Amino acid sequence: MAATTIPVDPFDLVILGGTGDLARRKILPALYRRMCSGQLPPEARIIGAARADMNQKKFRDFVRKAITEFSTASPCGDEGIENFLKIIDYEQLDVFAEDGWKRLKKHLRKDVITAFYFSVGPSLFGEIARKLTKHKLTDDTTRIVVEKPFGRDLASAKALNAELTTCFDEHQIYRIDHYLGKETVQNLMAVRFGNALFEPLWNAQHVDHVQITVAEDLGVEGRGAYYDKSGAMRDMVQNHLMQLLCLTAMEPPAKYGADAVRDEKLKVIRALEPVPPGDYVRGQYLGEKPGDSYLDHVNNPDSTTESFIALKVNIANWRWAGTPFYLRTGKRLRARMSEIAVIFKDPPHSIFEGEFNRKGNVLIIRLQPDEGMTLRVTIKEPGPGGMRLMEVPLDMTFAEALGEQIAFLPDAYERLIMDVIRGDQTLFMRGDEVEAAWGWVDPIRAEWIKSGARPLPYDTGSSGPEDSLMLLHRDGRRWRKIKS
Ligand code: BG6
Repeated sequence: MAATTIPVDPFDLVILGGTGDLARRKILPALYRRMCSGQLPPEARIIGAARADMNQKKFRDFVRKAITEFSTASPCGDEGIENFLKIIDYEQLDVFAEDGWKRLKKHLRKDVITAFYFSVGPSLFGEIARKLTKHKLTDDTTRIVVEKPFGRDLASAKALNAELTTCFDEHQIYRIDHYLGKETVQNLMAVRFGNALFEPLWNAQHVDHVQITVAEDLGVEGRGAYYDKSGAMRDMVQNHLMQLLCLTAMEPPAKYGADAVRDEKLKVIRALEPVPPGDYVRGQYLGEKPGDSYLDHVNNPDSTTESFIALKVNIANWRWAGTPFYLRTGKRLRARMSEIAVIFKDPPHSIFEGEFNRKGNVLIIRLQPDEGMTLRVTIKEPGPGGMRLMEVPLDMTFAEALGEQIAFLPDAYERLIMDVIRGDQTLFMRGDEVEAAWGWVDPIRAEWIKSGARPLPYDTGSSGPEDSLMLLHRDGRRWRKIKS
């Protein structure tokens, strides 16, 4: 049985920066796959706009190459590709000049949904927003989509929000965090709020601690120049890990709706305690061979930017006081693995004699690889000879449990772009949420910048610097293994 596909209404989607890397790797292949699944109506139009001197034919060639290269296997064959190309158009556009906007306007229809995907650097957001308004390319139903990084700190995020909200209402702004489009991230809400089983235990009384790991085996690859100005805290914690933390920690919203969910996430961010210097560890990867370290990759021998960070985070509210959330993320680690692990407390009293190596109940929500969930439970060791205990995983790998359905599941961009067209903001960040996250991150960064401390070195293929292990050891806990 294939996953259910609900077609969206007819739309004009303009990709500003249509010849860029994001459009090529993510946006265009995602739209193509949605067409193959039957979700795009025949009246859908996609208009690439960029400075490149291209015409419709050249841009269609560019799109054909992009989807062939980045859409693993062609889900609807050569004919599907040709059909997709028929809905593609192009307009050459210099954001700062006027004529391109006038020409772009001619592409847009009055009676369909219009969305503008700002697939460009944030420095252009304000100018694009102003030009769209000035040339009357928008109305109250227009949607705009912006990508991270949404600011570098609170001040710049506020400035960006101000630029956008001068021209658009908050309900028109879709700030993408692609982690929110991942299947398992949404499943976290389904598991928590769709079952009566977990919620009564989901608090400091029953949960010992939570571990959130987003480990990558790759390094900064070709993105050294961007990454060195950003680092793991800004690149991953402020957005992706923060979202995972919020969805794990938030109160049940009154309903599954954009503002109800985002209100609850915001309350979590506002309840985060400041993180003192002893409660975080920053690292930088070493190379396996000369020329292969972080410092080589960013071409900056003096860089103090972290490619790894681990933090102990306390949430000051009734539900979580006393139950820390440990977060870690880094590049060039042992494996690509992302998971949320909820470690429950031991039973208050054991009726069984003798000891066994108890690790306790753990609920693991795996984002990648092999999306799924595992619950570790204690059972009796099989066989005669007394009551001996052991722990086993109750494993539900979605690929096995859902069979064929999983093959049809959309990737994060597919889901998120379709949500834009549908007008559903639940999986997008609201302006106040982004600002609150920076408001928590900024003082932590300010402290390490003031101290001048360098990140600690760690080996490629390791679990990060030794000190990050100590962050848990000193609390009598240990990190789960990073493994694929
Ligand atoms: C991006 C970061 O937002 O997320 C990258 O900028 C990171 O540095 C990537 O590699 C990770 O995303 P995913 O989906 O591969 O886990």
